[in-house]
Amino acid sequence: MSNNIVVAIDGYSSCGKSTLAKALAKELHFIYVDSGAMYRAVALYFLRNNIDMQNHKQVAQALKNIHLNFHSRDYQTHITLNDEEVSDEIRLMPVSEKVSTVAAIREVRVEMVKQQQRLGKSKSIVMDGRDIGTVVFPDAQVKLFMTADPKIRAERRYKELLPKNPDITLEEVFDNLAHRDYQDTTREESPLVRAEDAIILDNTDLTPKEQLLFALSKIEPFMKS
Ligand code: DC
Repeated sequence: MSNNIVVAIDGYSSCGKSTLAKALAKELHFIYVDSGAMYRAVALYFLRNNIDMQNHKQVAQALKNIHLNFHSRDYQTHITLNDEEVSDEIRLMPVSEKVSTVAAIREVRVEMVKQQQRLGKSKSIVMDGRDIGTVVFPDAQVKLFMTADPKIRAERRYKELLPKNPDITLEEVFDNLAHRDYQDTTREESPLVRAEDAIILDNTDLTPKEQLLFALSKIEPFMKS
């Protein structure tokens, strides 16, 4: 058994998971992996290549043709899809609209989980997503389950999106988050659930700094042993 530490962060959409995960990785010099970016890159490939998601053969073949890699620069996620940098494109609306459906496909999940587990073998890691503490790393030393008031989450996301989408409304953002939460928690394959041993972090009234200090206090005991 290696001495690598695994910090698994799961939770609802737009809860600040990646902000906390990046800050932790920076502070602790761990690798940071945004598992959602992997599902987004697969969704992008499916869109570009018109993959029929009901067709298991097509999906299986597509997965064989997809090669994902992470490059860490300033703890920002740079992901390549078959050697092409797609970090910006995977955040655009066409991918956002498709990704929950792609992430619900069993074959896709099996392949992504395999790759995610491989990434955790080489070094201590912080990974955020929806099934990290339950499926990908059930033995993670520290598991956090993040949540926040849905209205606050929608407001935070709205402020992020507004500069690039001046027509967007708060109601639209709220509805989109509610829809994604619904899809992520009710899908058959690895739905978003809190691992029994995950620590709940409700950040409705917490600053990023307070969240970081809270998470560090849970990780530090494992750094000493
Ligand atoms: O975290 P995000 O919004 O970038 O995730 C994109 C989608 O991928 C979202 O629908 C949830 C899904 N996802 C998942 O099913 N499992 C993960 N480990 C990470 C993301």
